[in-house]
Amino acid sequence: PSVTYISATGRETAVAGFAGDSVMETAVRNGVPGIVAECGGSLSCATCHVFVCAGSVFPAMEDLEDDMLDGTAIDREENSRLSCQLKLGDADIRVATPETQV
Ligand code: FES
Repeated sequence: PSVTYISATGRETAVAGFAGDSVMETAVRNGVPGIVAECGGSLSCATCHVFVCAGSVFPAMEDLEDDMLDGTAIDREENSRLSCQLKLGDADIRVATPETQV
């Protein structure tokens, strides 16, 4: 699937992803700015915050992700998720990255 990352300034970066990989891993592997992912995906940093665009669907979050989202640098919104917890399926995905992660 393709994954499109939209920066806080509106710049779009589209990369090819692989089913089973996370939205965070896909960004880091491709050098996409806007996702820091300090903890490497172990759900302890909240620097992989993204806003999931309308039309992109992921399974509901677990309680720990919900708790961690209360500690993001930019306040969470209704569509906030931690991208290390978002696994790609077959569908193309669009997410927006916050202005800062730290
Ligand atoms: Fe640290 Fe997602 S990479 S919580």
